[in-house]
Amino acid sequence: MIVTTAELFRCAYGKYAIGAYNINNMEQTLGLFRGCAQAEAPFIIQISRGARKYADKRMLEAMIRAAESIYPESIFAVHLDHGDEATCYDCIDSGFYSSVMIDASHHPFAENAAITRRVVERAHAKGVSVESELGMLGGVEEDIKVEEGHACLTDPEQAKEFVEETGCDSLACAVGTSHGAYKFKGRQSIHFNVLEAISKRLPGFPLVMHGSSSVPQEEVRRINAAGGKLDPSACGVDENEYLPAAKLGVTKINIDTDGRLVWTRVHREYLRDHPEDFDFRGAGRLYMAEYASFIAHKSEKLGCAKQLESIRKSILAERGDRA
Ligand code: G3H
Ligand code: 13P
Ligand code: ZN
Repeated sequence: MIVTTAELFRCAYGKYAIGAYNINNMEQTLGLFRGCAQAEAPFIIQISRGARKYADKRMLEAMIRAAESIYPESIFAVHLDHGDEATCYDCIDSGFYSSVMIDASHHPFAENAAITRRVVERAHAKGVSVESELGMLGGVEEDIKVEEGHACLTDPEQAKEFVEETGCDSLACAVGTSHGAYKFKGRQSIHFNVLEAISKRLPGFPLVMHGSSSVPQEEVRRINAAGGKLDPSACGVDENEYLPAAKLGVTKINIDTDGRLVWTRVHREYLRDHPEDFDFRGAGRLYMAEYASFIAHKSEKLGCAKQLESIRKSILAERGDRA
């Protein structure tokens, strides 16, 4: 069942977070559905502009629809990740996406708010939810690279003003995380004080945390042992901080890099250990199983495992009331 992120967030707020995972191909798609079925967890499928270029938006839609018919019990939102205005409109008009992110965070406040407001109007007219972003994470996303020194944390006062001005359904906040595998140095972590200040000013309002992969040391070690050359200083968000963040209003936690690490580790090890093999399905099968376990594990850490049936009941009841 495809639902909006707003519907998911009404169930999750203050209790747990929903995992948002990027997909680009069939193996990721099947692994994601399988892992969430194992964990009985709702989820958010994220599609970036890069994924739409790589796999073609029609292929992505067809894969998701096929996966849904294989896993009919699944409950998920289909969400555009880091959209620009034109791509948001394409997704809203498609009738397939239930949620879009308009990322105009690189613009000054007023322009960001004006662009977001336009997208919200178009999206809400079609029942699509909108995530916006205020503040800037470090790292690379799509074609925009934010140097460490230019990343800036979300200002809590501005966050309140931005939400009121735009009417968005959720807000991605910069609270110290960044995209990719090199997030923190030393003992740095999420700035919980900033998160708390934002959630105090926006009680009940769903917040989103990008750049939330945990970059497990063991995964990096195995990749390098199998011929990879990742910088061993790679470091991510402590998975045990997902739930404390959820209690402060974070309802969506974005995880992409960790899934890429699973893919890299499985394929490097498989090819190293099976030098005679040229049937790609061996590694593909293993990857789907490993990715499914990884997703089930993340769902436990996010607190959304075993929430499927209660979410189904609440959303169906809410939809019934509105009909
Ligand atoms: O934040 C970006 C996501 O990790 C998606 O990455 O734009 O390379 O598909 P991508
Ligand atoms: P990671 O790079 O930490 O996985 O973040 C992904 C993300 O924020 C996608 O929007
Ligand atoms: Zn992101």
